[in-house]
Amino acid sequence: MTERPYVVDEMISAKTIAARIEDLAREIDREYRDTDKLVVVGLLRGSFVFIADLVRELDLPVEVDFLEASSYGDAMQSSREVRILKDLRSPIEGRDVLVVEDIVDTGFTLHHVLKLLGSREPRKLRTIALLDKPARREVALKADWTGFEIPDEFVVGYGIDFAQRNRNLPFIGKVRFPEG
Ligand code: IMP
Repeated sequence: MTERPYVVDEMISAKTIAARIEDLAREIDREYRDTDKLVVVGLLRGSFVFIADLVRELDLPVEVDFLEASSYGDAMQSSREVRILKDLRSPIEGRDVLVVEDIVDTGFTLHHVLKLLGSREPRKLRTIALLDKPARREVALKADWTGFEIPDEFVVGYGIDFAQRNRNLPFIGKVRFPEG
């Protein structure tokens, strides 16, 4: 990855993220009010901060599990493949499941994960994404809940990285390369 120096301009503050998560949590509580225990599935690694804050806002009983998917493109974007690097620890058949994603970009990752988890026959399978970049979508898909729609910018922070850096920023920022 590049060593070119860059700066991060704040795009969404920690306070704004926290307020939005409170609202989303109330909607999720309502949607799953009849569940005995919700399985919240975080997609590693970018969702780890979001899932930590989200589950602490939920009133529902929750179980937390993680899945790691890696997407990579070959010459043709449309044949993009997604590999599962780490699978869930527990079966989800008949369970109420919420998949937590950091960003929906092209949509390939979430599409593949939903196909895989859907084949395991959960009772209810829903998705939440902190960020959505609709301008970049290649697979027609939208998360059931979205924190913020953002323009086509490369963002970092709040769990999201650039070459494994900046995950620990408390806000979402935009990567910018100064001129020269
Ligand atoms: P998709 O399969 O193209 O939707 O890819 C989604 C994944 O790409 C996200 O989970 C992120 O890990 C990564 N990604 C997409 N946009 C950004 C970005 O702006 N910054 C950092 N990672 C991103």
